Amino acid sequence: MINVAVLGYGTVGSGVVEVINTNHESINKRAGQEINVKYVLDLRDFPGDPVEKILVHDYEQIVNDPEVDIVVEVMGGVEPAYTFVKKALLAGKNVCTSNKALVADKGRELMDIAREKSINFLFEASCGGGIPIIRVINSSLTGDEIDEVTGILNGTTNYMLYKMSTEGCEFDTVLKEAQQKGYAEADPTADVEGYDACRKIAILSSLAYSEYFDYKDIYTEGITKITPEDMEYAAKLGRTIKLLGTSRRNADGTCYAMVAPFLIGRDSPLYSVNDVFNAVFVHGNMLGDAMFYGSGAGKLPTASAVVGDIVDAAKHLHTNIFTNWNSTPAKLRPLDQVSG
Ligand code: HSE
Repeated sequence: MINVAVLGYGTVGSGVVEVINTNHESINKRAGQEINVKYVLDLRDFPGDPVEKILVHDYEQIVNDPEVDIVVEVMGGVEPAYTFVKKALLAGKNVCTSNKALVADKGRELMDIAREKSINFLFEASCGGGIPIIRVINSSLTGDEIDEVTGILNGTTNYMLYKMSTEGCEFDTVLKEAQQKGYAEADPTADVEGYDACRKIAILSSLAYSEYFDYKDIYTEGITKITPEDMEYAAKLGRTIKLLGTSRRNADGTCYAMVAPFLIGRDSPLYSVNDVFNAVFVHGNMLGDAMFYGSGAGKLPTASAVVGDIVDAAKHLHTNIFTNWNSTPAKLRPLDQVSG
């Protein structure tokens, strides 16, 4: 039996428990053993919820329990997630997380610990919600030289821009809707200012080019200045506006990355990526073009990606499976030196 502790019983945490309960037969078969949620950590109580039986308020109970094999961090934010995850890894426990802020900010250090201990620090759900993209870049595309990653990486803003363009909705109204649907971050500033997409393009680029992209070095502009009128003008030009995260690796080994709203024409595969959907376009020297598309936010798609990591961790409890991660910093070109 593999014992799992879930840190945080919010949207994603409750989704993880739901996915494990709903698909337990196939999940256990694929993991080769039973995946048992032994603990859920949250500061709150949940009267009447079956989770009450396994709810704990003290992290020490989890990290000091030798029976816990996998810690699932779905709390969001850097602290206390970082402290908890580091302690778990140092205690030899595999970690799966959906937390892009944690991976972008502390991923280098946490991955180094995981590698040293021959355990895993997995984060499929940190980029693109339910879209399998981390595993694809880290595994299926390891034979390629990737030179471009461009994506719609934030479901909240894509939903907002879609509603603004198709229904002429105002910014504040659609933001509230996205929050009600559980897409937005606890503080939606991270969505609308582009910080969330910035962390995701930093993570994807670090894996795609096997060089570390510091999210703090990435030029980032959000969608707060976009109005329904901008959408109308874009439509008149036969275009639409999308918030993109994009990065390139040049032939001379230099790289650039940025997040900003772009005018997109119908000839782009990203033009029809609407609603809360995300898509990641990848170009490789052997692969050519490929695009990965799916639900970019929301409880069950995100939880599905986390549970995929739990099964992978269960099967590789004592082997680090991250081949592409490399801590050498990328040579990032300032944007004013980027052309084409
Ligand atoms: N707030 C994020 C988004 C959640 O809207 O994409 C998924 O990372």
